[in-house]
Amino acid sequence: MTSPRSHAVLLAVASLVGLVAVVVAFRQAAPASFPAAASIDSPPAGESPRANPAATYRPTVLPDRVILTFAGDPTNSQAVTWRTDTTVRGPVAELAVATDGPAFEKGWHGYDEKRVTRAAARTEKLTAGGYDALYHSVNFTGLAAKTKYVYRVGDGSNWSEWFQFETAAKEPEPFGFIYFGDAQNGIRSLWSRVARGAYSDMPKARFIVHAGDLVDGGNSDQQWGEWHAAAGWINGMVPSVPAAGNHEYTGPKGLTNHWRPQFTLPEHGPPGLQESCYVIDYQGVRVVVLNSNEKHAEQAEWLEGVLADNPNRWTVLAFHHPVYSPANRDNPTVREAWRKVIDAAPRGVDLVLQGHDHTYGRSGLMREDNTLTGFQVQALRGTVYVVSVSGPKLYTGGDAPWMVRRGNGVQLYQLVRFEGDELVYESRTARGDLYDAFTLQKRPDGGNDLVEGENPPGPDGPSGPYGAAVAATDVGRAAPRDGWSAAAAVVILALVGLAIGWALRAR
Ligand SMILES: [Fe+2]
Repeated sequence: MTSPRSHAVLLAVASLVGLVAVVVAFRQAAPASFPAAASIDSPPAGESPRANPAATYRPTVLPDRVILTFAGDPTNSQAVTWRTDTTVRGPVAELAVATDGPAFEKGWHGYDEKRVTRAAARTEKLTAGGYDALYHSVNFTGLAAKTKYVYRVGDGSNWSEWFQFETAAKEPEPFGFIYFGDAQNGIRSLWSRVARGAYSDMPKARFIVHAGDLVDGGNSDQQWGEWHAAAGWINGMVPSVPAAGNHEYTGPKGLTNHWRPQFTLPEHGPPGLQESCYVIDYQGVRVVVLNSNEKHAEQAEWLEGVLADNPNRWTVLAFHHPVYSPANRDNPTVREAWRKVIDAAPRGVDLVLQGHDHTYGRSGLMREDNTLTGFQVQALRGTVYVVSVSGPKLYTGGDAPWMVRRGNGVQLYQLVRFEGDELVYESRTARGDLYDAFTLQKRPDGGNDLVEGENPPGPDGPSGPYGAAVAATDVGRAAPRDGWSAAAAVVILALVGLAIGWALRAR
């Protein structure tokens, strides 16, 4: 028997021993990183070595720069292009109708090999950036309209992820697309935000129009690497519709040697302009891409045919050098060659999307010959011309009177939606704020009424909505009302003339 006091002493000793044991145990069990964490050395002050572009953008055996484009009818075909190093053998693409689960890949739930078709790629070699690369392309054909597909590209051993896209419907149906002016500079650091912001605002966009100068140095593989990386997997899901700018004209033969290997586009343009002058019909909208760098007369003739034989309700043109410049950088060759063709289009041209001037300018409904002739006002039609910029190189534009909306100092993207008889246009800043908006309402006679949206003045732009000088010169805008007011003016003038004549006679 022990006394209560010795009990307390024993308990205290046991507690102390236990505490020591626990501390020792913890110290032994602690991972080596515990004490090491406190002794990690910070990198010394000084300059880091610079990343080597030749290493950063060098191709590997794994597909990269995966990009969808249209090479034919978007209701039944879809082209894809990708890049690898030169060690790959047997490049292929696999395609399946999209399922809700992974039934298109071997080893996964519900797999059925009959779902998947495999197509051999066409391959072109490109030497740039100090290395050789292979560009592979497949044009998936025989597809069903308005159907979701999955695809991957690779060589049987190395594969991309599965991407998903949807073919166009055969009939006109509402859809939207994204339009970018020049990206060109700071592509990785500063354009990526705009590219991703546009996709965030319109993730179901059916394609992306690039109005030229995608990069600054057309033959710089590093810059193309930045361009492909900035939009990344978006390019594998949303087809690109690119136009060539002057900065893509840096190759010894004109168009950069990157263009045709990396974009698989229609080859139905005038001779010498395959894959840079083409037309795509998408759910009631004809999109015509022109190459404003060369062969303007040949393209005018080709465009005339494309616009004459046009069953689509809406028509959009995209090219680089603007017909009307917002920055006093005139392109008379382009304007003289193409404006008349645009004005004379039997079904009209609704929208012309351009770049080159690194500022923003947007017209009302314009046509050059929309002048008063006797009591006749020319056809109540016209085209909306837009110049925009998505990259960080920003000029200060002028105040040419053709612009209804103009602004400087902002990176922008545009969302264009077609909803039956309406074309709904929005320009947004890199922050996602609305910068310009209008709606075109198709009239039964084929012409449009233009309804201005709320156009907040830009942070740097001198004009808010409706520059005062515009109404006097832009006679095509809001045509029905302008037509009537012009006719009324003529009647009033005639009455005044009669009154003066009568007064003189009375004397
Ligand atoms: Fe340009």
